[in-house]
Amino acid sequence: MHASIRTLALAVLSLGFAEQTLAEATTYKHVAVFSIDGFHGSDVAKYIAVRPKSTIATLLETGYEYTDAFTSAPSDSFPGTQAQFTGAGPRTTGVWYDDTYDRTFFAPGSDCSGKPGAEVVYDETIDYNSTEVFSGGINPKNLPRAIINGVCTPVFPHSRIRVNTVFEVVASKGKVTAYTDKHPAYDMVRGPSGKGLTQGYFPEINAFPTTVNDTITYDQLHVDAFLDWLDGKDPKHAEGSLKGQIPTLFGGNFQAVSVAQKTVGYQNKPGLPFTAPLLRALDFVDASLGKVVAKLKAKGIYDETLIVVASKHGQSPIDPSKYKKIDPKAVTKATKVNVAFQTSDDIALIFLENHQDTLTAVRNLKAQRNNLEIQDLIYGRRLIELGFGNPLVDPAVPDIIVKPELGIIYTTSTAKIAEHGGISNDDRHVSVFVSNPKLEKRKYHNQVSTKQVGPTILKALGLNPMELKGAVAEGTKVLNGF
Ligand SMILES: *[C@@H]1O[C@H](CO)[C@@H](O)[C@H](O)[C@H]1NC(C)=O
Ligand SMILES: *[C@@H]1O[C@H](CO)[C@@H](O)[C@H](O)[C@H]1NC(C)=O
Repeated sequence: MHASIRTLALAVLSLGFAEQTLAEATTYKHVAVFSIDGFHGSDVAKYIAVRPKSTIATLLETGYEYTDAFTSAPSDSFPGTQAQFTGAGPRTTGVWYDDTYDRTFFAPGSDCSGKPGAEVVYDETIDYNSTEVFSGGINPKNLPRAIINGVCTPVFPHSRIRVNTVFEVVASKGKVTAYTDKHPAYDMVRGPSGKGLTQGYFPEINAFPTTVNDTITYDQLHVDAFLDWLDGKDPKHAEGSLKGQIPTLFGGNFQAVSVAQKTVGYQNKPGLPFTAPLLRALDFVDASLGKVVAKLKAKGIYDETLIVVASKHGQSPIDPSKYKKIDPKAVTKATKVNVAFQTSDDIALIFLENHQDTLTAVRNLKAQRNNLEIQDLIYGRRLIELGFGNPLVDPAVPDIIVKPELGIIYTTSTAKIAEHGGISNDDRHVSVFVSNPKLEKRKYHNQVSTKQVGPTILKALGLNPMELKGAVAEGTKVLNGF
């Protein structure tokens, strides 16, 4: 049926129209959306070459692969997540990083007096007790504050974002939603209303050692939740109840691949691009996706579920020989002006005490370009032209983005050989594919953005993608084929 409609439409009309006709005929009752954090676009083919019978290979037999997909810039997990669920980037969401700065905020515990401007950190440090897997959730005492309607108020991550999320749109139709991620701070996917999730499940990854095997143990908690949800069951310690229903929209992430990339990484061996621990992490994720597929089949809902795999971020460098670390303080110092805050990873976001110092800071950074291995400095008009926004009017936009050469990490940590958050291709070129047994195998080679995941989820569920305010603001379209 689908095929004949499509063939007819293809014969008569443009491809774009044909795809629209097909999509109108296809709505799904469920969408399951997974991020394999760190999984590059280039890893898909590499993994299938090593594991031709894997779940991922099987999913792609009836699915669309987007081979040139890019996540947000910067590519930190926080904006990476928001890109998918709001259809927008940091300029629109206000979410740049999990640890950054806002010129209008005040410190946790303060009474919002004095000069505004404070670090905005939404990681494990905001939990009641981040050494416990079930950490008690977010302690408002640990939250940065802002003056809202004249009152000094702690700002929860979900209140930080400026536009709605797909979870909010789906939940607003009375449908059930569920999401799991690595810290309670991922509360942010609930969206500004705070109502996007029927159920949030946020075991704290910080309670586990940063090894591949321990991270697999951690990820298994997410997998168990996916399987529980498909039985309409509430995992222990989850917030909110499904009341026996299978969610219309559910998802979560896997951390094991990211941790394997950061701690052990890739190897330059022909035919064997992954070190053993990285391959073990990939095999774990693949087997876990296999369990979800088996459960969907057992429940008789495989045909009516769209599976979306879209990674929040990649990891830099893929080539281990390119890795080098530089002390982030050297970057701050090199500006020779007063820096209010600097986010440092394989990028540096610099917030100056005074915007007027921007050109001086840039000139001084340029003088140390070689030492600091700077590839590009983005500031002033180029920030706006490249879509980052304007620091003069938006308190969340840094004055200067420092893009280092590929493989450079501004860190003093010796524990990591790769990192993400930056704007290099290794950070941003990620895996994106969708699968359903009724789809025919296709590869789309045009450039797409993970922002397109949000509107695509709504379209797939028969909802209006235009309800996603961030997607409208940035003109984000659904993915090809929808
Ligand atoms: C946090 O949890 C750990 C492990 O359960 C415990 O040892 C510690 O005392 C707790 N800290 C606080 C401040 O409650
Ligand atoms: C991790 O687990 C695998 C398989 O379960 C095991 O073979 C390996 O020795 C473990 N690695 C470490 C460092 O414990």
